[in-house]
Amino acid sequence: MQRITVVGAGNVGATCANVIAHKELAKEVVLIDIKEGVAEGKALDIWQTSSINNFNTRVVGYTNDYLKTKGSGVVVITSGLPRKPGMSRDDLIKTNAVIVKEVTENIIKYSPEAIIIVVSNPLDVMTYAAYIASNKSRNKIFGMAGILDAGRYKAFLADALNVSPKDIHALLLGGHGDTMVPLPRYTSISGIPVTAMLDNATIDKIVERTKKGGGELVNLMGTSAWYAPGAAAAQMVEAIVDDQQRIFAVCTKLEGEYGLKDVFLGVPVKLGRNGIEEIIDIKLDKAESKLLHDSSESVQGVMKLLDGMKLF
Ligand code: NAI
Ligand code: 2OP
Repeated sequence: MQRITVVGAGNVGATCANVIAHKELAKEVVLIDIKEGVAEGKALDIWQTSSINNFNTRVVGYTNDYLKTKGSGVVVITSGLPRKPGMSRDDLIKTNAVIVKEVTENIIKYSPEAIIIVVSNPLDVMTYAAYIASNKSRNKIFGMAGILDAGRYKAFLADALNVSPKDIHALLLGGHGDTMVPLPRYTSISGIPVTAMLDNATIDKIVERTKKGGGELVNLMGTSAWYAPGAAAAQMVEAIVDDQQRIFAVCTKLEGEYGLKDVFLGVPVKLGRNGIEEIIDIKLDKAESKLLHDSSESVQGVMKLLDGMKLF
């Protein structure tokens, strides 16, 4: 790919650009930030690792100059405030909705064909905001959370089992918040169901810790995480650029799948060169379905807050 843009050169954006460069997913990665000098500085810093880390991808940064993003194939939006201790992701809606709307409009102006991955929080509702602002079809604009949340779940399971995280496969649905739905029934270790290797009480504890995984890090660091979020967004970029047809939980607009409509929620999708190639609508049992519907209600409540802002 010729060009990939990452908007927001903060913790998550810079980490994401760094991983994209390491993997040489494009000839050029453009970092954009509103704060004078930040994108330029971080891009220069990353570029100066190219001979050390052995990559050719040119990394450049600009302050709010969207002309330089022209013709990007994929754009990752990470601009916006992160959480501080005591804040929920939903507390960020007022500030971040304005930012995400403006950024999406600027991106579309210069890269009308771009596939857009939203990272800013509250994730599901910022994906909704960007979807409206972009006027794109749902397969071209979606949000990153499932890979991160599943990554946390897998890390906790790997610790509990003393196995390689590489051997853990897991599905996690729902919104990016405390109502997310990790699915032990769809979790395996090299094909062995997790329920055959861990007792229910341990699994329940891990599920609960996963749901609060973002908050755990906010409490430790005073701001939200970036290594795993940046890597997770870059993994989605890779699946698109290399047309991998990989299956990840991705935040997308549901139009009847899982019995849900007009809500942005994490569900398994196949990612390839066209963005979302397919939404995978698996059969949930009654309890799982209820959890997903509860999560949907919670996200819809925040979507209503966005509607009430009358930004669009
Ligand atoms: P950060 O504060 O380190 O970086 C945000 C950057 O956005 C700053 O450099 C800021 O100057 C820039 N920015 C603000 N307004 C802008 C605009 N109009 N145009 C361009 N740049 C602008 O924050 P961090 O940690 O990188 O987090 C970024 C966002 O990602 C937050 O909303 C955070 O909550 C969210 N997040 C989402 C995750 C997910 O799983 N979806 C995981 C981790 C963070
Ligand atoms: C995270 O889950 C806060 O959404 C951010 O780390």
